[in-house]
Amino acid sequence: MTEHDGALLEVRDLAVVFDGFRAIDGIDFTVQHGELRFLIGPNGAGKTTLIDVITGLTKPAAGSVRFEGIDLVGRKEHEIVRMGVGRTFQTSVVFEKLTVVENLDLAASFRRPLWSLARRRRGVSDAVAAAMEITGLDALAGRPAGVLSHGQRQWLEIGMLIAQRPRLLLLDEPVAGMSADERSRTGLLLTEIAKDHTVIVIEHDMEFLRRYASVVTVLHEGKVLTEGSVDEVRADPHVQEVYLGRAREEAGAGDHDARGTAAVGTSAGEVK
Ligand SMILES: Nc1ncnc2c1ncn2[C@@H]1O[C@H](COP(=O)(O)OP(=O)(O)OP(=O)(O)O)[C@@H](O)[C@H]1O
Ligand SMILES: [Mg+2]
Repeated sequence: MTEHDGALLEVRDLAVVFDGFRAIDGIDFTVQHGELRFLIGPNGAGKTTLIDVITGLTKPAAGSVRFEGIDLVGRKEHEIVRMGVGRTFQTSVVFEKLTVVENLDLAASFRRPLWSLARRRRGVSDAVAAAMEITGLDALAGRPAGVLSHGQRQWLEIGMLIAQRPRLLLLDEPVAGMSADERSRTGLLLTEIAKDHTVIVIEHDMEFLRRYASVVTVLHEGKVLTEGSVDEVRADPHVQEVYLGRAREEAGAGDHDARGTAAVGTSAGEVK
């Protein structure tokens, strides 16, 4: 499967329709082996839906999603995970009563019988050990996931993903709700992970992108608005317009998105 020498992921002419509404309306999206790609766009742009299609959660009305040359459309979620595609969700999915290491082990052992979870710490597999090391969760291995801080929990989810040894990781807003310090640590973690994985990250925060992104794809109303470096994307008048309109609406409503969308368009109506 790894013999395919084209792009790792090739999405072509993708369309997703919910009750007549085109949430994805003709997307072409290509990610090369080893990329750390950022996906941005205003609320409702279709970012999560795109990931839902890639991972088999949502069926497209049209188009193809080729992973190492093989079409994923029509395959079951667990089959896609086994092929090497892993994702996190916008909401947390860790098991609170299980410890950090048990959560990682569960993620790593999704093909093994449940009794193997009873293994002792020193029996931890290479995949779990690697996931703990890269996320820095070693010190918290024996703590129940329920007591972790928000940031630590996100790192655990990323660790659970890595423990599954995916070749492509899809992360949906991993720094949402994090403190500045946690954001920096997550940025470094993503950079580290991207050394031997291909990673697609959905993120709204322009400051975060400025520090850690190279190539950014901007979605808007189910289409690719533009793609390029952070500077190119920020300078694009269409991108400014999309976020400007949003900033105006928010200024009018006196309401700001807790997940940081407003950080892209400032209240002064400027893409920073
Ligand atoms: N299961 C569904 N049924 C109906 N409409 C849906 C469904 N899932 C998503 N949508 C709609 O599709 C559009 C794209 O949603 P999506 O969640 O992909 O946006 P997003 O870019 O991830 O936005 P956000 O930044 O808010 O997470 C939105 O208008 C949303 O309301
Ligand atoms: Mg989303």
